[in-house]
Amino acid sequence: MKNIGVIGAGTMGIGIAQVAAQNWNQVVLIDTNQEVLDKAKAQLEKTLFKLVEKQKLTEADSSKIASLIEFTTNYDSLKNADLVIEAIVENISVKHSVFSQIESIVSTSCILASNTSSLSIASISSVLKNPERMLGIHFFNPAPLMALVEIIPGVQTTEEVTIAAKSIIDSWKKKTVLVKDTPGFIVNRVARPFYGEALRIYEEGIADFATIDWAMTHFGGFKMGPFTLMDYIGNDINYTVTESVFEAFYFDPRFKPSFTQKRHKEAGLLGRKTGKGYYDYQENAIAISPKEDVQLGEKIFNRILAMLINEAYDALFMQVASREDIDTAMKFGVNYPKGLLEWADEIGVDNVLSTLTDLFEEYGEDRYRPNPLLKRKVRELQLGN
Ligand SMILES: NC(=O)c1ccc[n+]([C@@H]2O[C@H](COP(=O)([O-])OP(=O)(O)OC[C@H]3O[C@@H](n4cnc5c(N)ncnc54)[C@H](O)[C@@H]3O)[C@@H](O)[C@H]2O)c1
Repeated sequence: MKNIGVIGAGTMGIGIAQVAAQNWNQVVLIDTNQEVLDKAKAQLEKTLFKLVEKQKLTEADSSKIASLIEFTTNYDSLKNADLVIEAIVENISVKHSVFSQIESIVSTSCILASNTSSLSIASISSVLKNPERMLGIHFFNPAPLMALVEIIPGVQTTEEVTIAAKSIIDSWKKKTVLVKDTPGFIVNRVARPFYGEALRIYEEGIADFATIDWAMTHFGGFKMGPFTLMDYIGNDINYTVTESVFEAFYFDPRFKPSFTQKRHKEAGLLGRKTGKGYYDYQENAIAISPKEDVQLGEKIFNRILAMLINEAYDALFMQVASREDIDTAMKFGVNYPKGLLEWADEIGVDNVLSTLTDLFEEYGEDRYRPNPLLKRKVRELQLGN
């Protein structure tokens, strides 16, 4: 049993605390807002009750799990922590003051982690006296259900700290992948074309939302099409992630945000949570049918998949993560039906390259440039034959 501290009892913090307690760790969950803590406690009790109802937990285990979490506003409760995971607001100056405060309380052997999605570990750890003990531990929402956790050592993190943190999260029965401290880590970087290229296809007038969604679910086996998924995530959140990845990559056109999504965000058409997004979720809304044209559907699917594979190749080329971890991340972080690199092998890397080369020639935009590693792989295969 370890002592785990979780800072921030919002969407992510409460989920991470639940995962830690379900794996029999003593947990301290801290928030500055008592009301948030009370709500988090009530929400956790409700979740545990549901798990008992579904016979996924015994009543005895459920009470034990609930008793393992201390909900408090007092940072001093962290003094025995072995690992502290911060999940507060995505703001560098607030994170800096919280990490300085935590470091003044915990022992020197305590590992410090951030659940940040878009800030660098290097920038967060810069305020620490001992930045070697800090890394990123990036859970996905909802944390108890999503298997993937990205482990992100910063430039100063020691190997011992990375190994120890990874082994704790592995012991929580999560699938961990190791990733360099680069914008979007694996998932939020590699997944960008799923949204961006779908929006581009729509903007060019090639197909409507429903047809693009149909192409991706029908031919690709994705659980949700891009527009259904953006409505589910929220166009405000999804747009902000794209914008932050675009800026962090020094405005590389591969990540360029879309006016269509920006306008939906500005208009308050955020998706499910506002009742309207690309689709209408209100009562009596009329469902829009896709145009089930096989040739068009395959063309859309091949284009988006080629862009996703190109992005996965880029992450591999730039040594952001291993081949296996890139595929694991997309299967377990966003539930893709297959890993993108294995998918490329299955359909033929030469086919992927030819789709990208055609797009690059047609548009002349840097956005469509095929990755050098993909080109190399095709060349090697041709030489081998
Ligand atoms: N929501 C997601 O889908 C998601 C997924 C992965 C990672 N993240 C990252 O996780 C972090 C938290 O996101 P969230 O969606 O859970 O946010 P949230 O807004 O739901 O919760 C943040 C909580 O932190 C509390 N807080 C603020 N300042 C604090 C302080 N100084 N000390 C203690 N508590 C404080 C707030 O009261 C709030 O309850 C962010 O860094 C975000 O980028 C979010």
